[in-house]
Amino acid sequence: MPTPESWTTPSDDTHLVSSPIFWRAYARFFTENAKEAVIAVDSHGIITVFNAIAKQSFNLENKKVVGQPFQKIFPFILSHENYLLQAVQHSRELKEVEYSYCPYTKEEGTFVHSVALIYEDDGSIGGAIWLRKDKTSLQKFQREVNDTSIHAAISQIAAGMAHEIRNPLTTARGFLQLAHQNCPNEALSSYLDSAEEEIDSINKIISDFLALVHPQPKGFQLINCNDLITDVLELVENAAAMYDITVLTKLNTNIPICFLDAKQVKHAMLSILQNAIQAMPQGGLLTIKVSFDAETKEVHISISDTGKGIKRENLEQIFDPFFSTRTDGSGLGLTLANRIVSYHDGHINVYSKEGKGTTIVLCFPVNDTKKA
Ligand SMILES: Nc1ncnc2c1ncn2[C@@H]1O[C@H](COP(=O)(O)OP(=O)(O)O)[C@@H](O)[C@H]1O
Ligand SMILES: [Mg+2]
Repeated sequence: MPTPESWTTPSDDTHLVSSPIFWRAYARFFTENAKEAVIAVDSHGIITVFNAIAKQSFNLENKKVVGQPFQKIFPFILSHENYLLQAVQHSRELKEVEYSYCPYTKEEGTFVHSVALIYEDDGSIGGAIWLRKDKTSLQKFQREVNDTSIHAAISQIAAGMAHEIRNPLTTARGFLQLAHQNCPNEALSSYLDSAEEEIDSINKIISDFLALVHPQPKGFQLINCNDLITDVLELVENAAAMYDITVLTKLNTNIPICFLDAKQVKHAMLSILQNAIQAMPQGGLLTIKVSFDAETKEVHISISDTGKGIKRENLEQIFDPFFSTRTDGSGLGLTLANRIVSYHDGHINVYSKEGKGTTIVLCFPVNDTKKA
């Protein structure tokens, strides 16, 4: 409740009426109180509005900004990222476009940009107004909520059970091995062989699951992604050769280094490489490529295969725990890979065409602009 002294008497010259003055005041009131950063320029690129959130976000609190040329205040902005001047010069607008980067503050996050043109009475362009919603904290919060509470409790119970299953399983496998070594009968020996393989596959499911619910402590270091690929390739080349798969690597020495947990990222890459190999039982081409996307400031590690591809209706589910189309699949490989990449504030893109192949791209943000 406002106290009596919170109210002020409007001065004569700010009486709101339904006139251009009214609309100017109305606009000023709403832009100043908006929760989004708002900047407007006139057709010459002179700043006409710069609201409180913009000042706060751009750390220009004490500087006079209104009346200054936009380019003088933001001289570092590349012309294609200069949404306001682009709008005025090319007569175009942006409607709620989400980017993981804000060119004005050089911040990484989740930002929704909108730019609208302002027209004069005669229809000519009088300027443009830009509005930026910062959804970074909201998204972080949502991610935290998804990752904690009920999910954590269920995971813990399941992890406890997985541990309990693994111990007797290891003992059973030991006895089977002993029996196998002393088995005089060939048919029986082959049954024991199959039983051991089945136990190994259960063990693999349990290990993947435990890695998922109990991620290893993070060992972040500055890493050159080319090195990661070289390390992982050593492990993959034999498997690829067995299935008549040609491996093509496209390293790139001109990429920035990333702050990553190498062990975890290699784990994620191996899960994806394993899927790629499994998708090409009759052979094919496996391409691993590293590149830098200057626009999103991300290093991309892309793994492509020429295998069977993913059915359109399955695309939405491939990251879900236990989703698998393979009879011996755990359905945890991609869930784990996705979790690892998310820990790095990155994301995974998937492109797939049935019968043609699949490309999975691990995208990692770069905070350090040094070149590798
Ligand atoms: N490269 C790929 N080509 C075709 N299908 C794929 C590929 N990668 C993943 N998939 C699909 O996604 C599913 C889930 O993969 P994943 O989580 O690794 O579990 P799993 O390999 O144990 O089945 C796979 O069963 C398969 O249907
Ligand atoms: Mg897999």
